[in-house]
Amino acid sequence: MAATRRMFMGIVAGGVVLAATAGALWVSSRDPVSARRPWQDAGRREADLRRRLLSFAILAPNPHNRQPWLADLSVDDEITLYCQHDRRLPQTDPHDRQINIGLGCFLELLAQAAAEEGYQADIALFPKGEPQPRLDDRPVAHIRLTQDTMMNRDPLFAHVLSRRSNKEAYDLARPVETGKLAEIATAARMPAIAHTNDPARVKALRQLAWQAYYTEITTPYALEESIDLVRIGRSEIEANPDGIDLSGPVIEGLSIAGLLSRADMLDPASSAFQQQIPILKEPVDTAMAFLWLKTAGNSRSDQIAAGRDYVRLNLAATAVGVSMHPFSQALQEFAEMRPHFLAMRNALAVEDNETLQMFVRLGYGPAIEGAPRWPVDTRIRSA
Ligand SMILES: Cc1cc2nc3c(=O)[nH]c(=O)nc-3n(C[C@H](O)[C@H](O)[C@H](O)COP(=O)(O)O)c2cc1C
Repeated sequence: MAATRRMFMGIVAGGVVLAATAGALWVSSRDPVSARRPWQDAGRREADLRRRLLSFAILAPNPHNRQPWLADLSVDDEITLYCQHDRRLPQTDPHDRQINIGLGCFLELLAQAAAEEGYQADIALFPKGEPQPRLDDRPVAHIRLTQDTMMNRDPLFAHVLSRRSNKEAYDLARPVETGKLAEIATAARMPAIAHTNDPARVKALRQLAWQAYYTEITTPYALEESIDLVRIGRSEIEANPDGIDLSGPVIEGLSIAGLLSRADMLDPASSAFQQQIPILKEPVDTAMAFLWLKTAGNSRSDQIAAGRDYVRLNLAATAVGVSMHPFSQALQEFAEMRPHFLAMRNALAVEDNETLQMFVRLGYGPAIEGAPRWPVDTRIRSA
């Protein structure tokens, strides 16, 4: 997935102080409140069981916060899940591998929410065949709900509303304990999880992750895909609660003053772009541990299973107070990334027949708000 919101924060850095011009009322009104409302509404507003389950599933992590899920509810007690094509990331995710992982995260939360209500979610993946080389109009999953009073609830579900992808700098004084890494890893259903907090190895992986990141932001078509998804300020975020959201009074003030330009964002030769490099590097340089997940195959179902496991790991990290943040650049399958793709596989001892599905950093970061979401209604496909 492409560059994070911090790069755009970096572009606006440079000593501009806005607070003096900002009235307190205006400052306090800049948070995109309605874009975050799905986090408060989950499980609360929907009388219909399927919509209630969806209200949790839409909080799943997903690449670039594109929220590609579309649910068809035209048959009673059933949900058919589709991928909305124009929510994919064709430049940085040319085979829809990452988008499909996000759909796996969605299915896991849906199944957990169902269990919580005493329902078994029987999920048939790709009932009309696995689409290759890209996802197509065929359904991703068909879900049948049946009541089962013996259903075991999943303790991870307690953390759905506080789970985050924490993209901030982590505390360099707080290593992630080996015991916590091991505990997080036990949340996965598949065995192929590995992790390290060994300082020398972490240092080497930071370096690889940064090289891949730099390649992404200096490859014009990859960068452009991100810039097109930047939402600046409350009204843009509330109008499109997805993509890369930049909010807060400083951002809005700079935008109003014309100091936050998409053209600068796209020009690696500009001084604004260069100034951001140390800011962009900070999350990489404060990675205190890494964890990665690989699969033996790379079928569409393997990718869904990886997504289901990934969100379980993210929830388990939340449970033990550890922040998590995917670094997907070196896993991306576009030509310019190839050397880093190979170097990362080599560094993580990924075998030829295996696929590296997720690579994330861990540490202790500051508390952050939930990322924007489209409301449930907008993610239901009308008949
Ligand atoms: C397959 C996948 C790849 C991701 N890759 C990145 C990444 O490279 N960089 C990043 O900052 N976030 C990455 N994320 C996290 C998403 O940006 C994040 O889930 C989304 O913005 C929603 O935020 P939330 O997880 O806090 O709800 C990835 C998530 C998934 C599921």
